[in-house]
Parts: sequence; structure tokens; C-alpha cells
Amino acid sequence: MIPYRIGVFDSGAGGISVLKSLIHSHNFEEIIYYGDTARVPYGVRSPETIIQYSLEALEFFKSFHLDLLVIACNTVSAYGLKAMQEVAPYPIVGVIEPGVLALKNKISNKDSKILILGTKATIQSKLYSELLSVEGYCNTFGLATSLFVPIVEEGIFEGAVLDSTIAHYFAKYPQTPEAIILGCTHFPLIADSISNYYHKQPLLIHSGEAIMEYLQNSYILKSFDTPPKVTFYASDCVEKLEQIAKVWLIK
Ligand code: DGL
Repeated sequence: MIPYRIGVFDSGAGGISVLKSLIHSHNFEEIIYYGDTARVPYGVRSPETIIQYSLEALEFFKSFHLDLLVIACNTVSAYGLKAMQEVAPYPIVGVIEPGVLALKNKISNKDSKILILGTKATIQSKLYSELLSVEGYCNTFGLATSLFVPIVEEGIFEGAVLDSTIAHYFAKYPQTPEAIILGCTHFPLIADSISNYYHKQPLLIHSGEAIMEYLQNSYILKSFDTPPKVTFYASDCVEKLEQIAKVWLIK
């Protein structure tokens, strides 16, 4: 199966950071993006609620005859992915396994210090650290950095507010990591400020780049001369989502 028409699901606008990598690949003809903007954030909710919302998103995609669905949201990838895969008639890929594989391809020293950032729910799931430990990486540390989400949504990508929030969280992890997993859709937008905190720049794992690497290794993808047709849908205020896309897609 060659995926031509794919869906992208996120809890809100954050998945645009993953969408950007999918658009730039020129590997798809059409992308349908759906953000559950009425109920974002998912990262503070219980596993049961995240699973319920994830299954409800499949209802939205029913009429689109997708070849493949990409879950851009780390929180949904941590909790909802399995339940979605069990009922969907097309393949669904999340961002966590690709993120771990991307790290494995770049960091061979299994003693490397790896800092995993994410929402409260993603960190509580321990999925990144479990998959990393299966690959032999045991020197991992999960850090929930929930405040980064509203800060990025506020359009703050650098400056004093962000730097002091980074300092607040990273005080819990004073060592310099070899790699940081940006385990949340919003974090690539503040990647520079995050890596500048440490004296030696760590390797950053970005969900969008990781999932493209994964798809290119797992599927036969067609190469198109032009970027895909992208249509945005949202459970609330699609205009706001389109506005955010205009800014984030060129950042
Ligand atoms: N999209 C979410 C994630 O990547 C962040 C926003 C939320 O909490 O819903 O985990």
C-alpha cells in the first residue's frame, strides 16, 4: 500500500509542528489535519479520557477514506494509539516508537544521558523510557514540562518568560544530557531556547522528523513535485487553527 491521502490527528494546533515535516517531505498527495481544539489540552487528562477522545477522532476521519493516519500528539500516542489501531481499517502510526528509533539511529552509546520532555500524561505513561530501556538505554529521565504548551500557544518562542520556565524545570536535571526527546508537539518551536540552557548542545529528537524517517523506512512512498493539498478541520474555531498554521509552518 502506498499512502497518498493521509490524516494527521492532534489534540489541537500543536500537531502542525509534525505536519510541517510531512508537508516538506513531498511524499503525500493530500493531508487532512484534524485538531480537537475544543478539548485541548489532553496532556492533563486521565488515560481513560484520552482513549475515549482518541477513539472519537476516528469517527471524524471515517468519511475521508484515508490510506494512513499519523498521530502527531505524543499524549495520544502514549495512551490512545493501541485502541485506535484495534478498530481502524487503515494503519495508524504514533510518534513515540519513531522517536525512540530516531534516537537509536543517532546515539550508539547506551550509557548516554537522555532527557525526555513531555506533558504530564506522556511522562506518567513512561512509554518513552520503557521503549528506550528495551533498546538498552537506561540512563533516561522523564520530565513533565506542561507550562511549555500554553507558553508556545501564546506565541512566545524565546525571551525571559520562556527562559525562566526552562530554568524552573531543568533545575531538576542539572546534568548535561547527550540527547533531549522533544516529546510534545509544541516543543520543537522552542528547541533553540531548550538546547541553549545547557553548555554543550544536546542532540534533539523532533517528532516530525522522526516520523518521516520511520515512514520512509516502513512504507513505499511516492515522491511528488509539489507539496500536498492540506485541509484543516477542528472541533472548535478552525480559523484560529489556520492562523496558527500560517505562523508555525514558516517558523
Ligand atoms: N499535543 C500534545 C502532545 O504532543 C500537547 C498538547 C496537549 O496536552 O494536548 O502531547
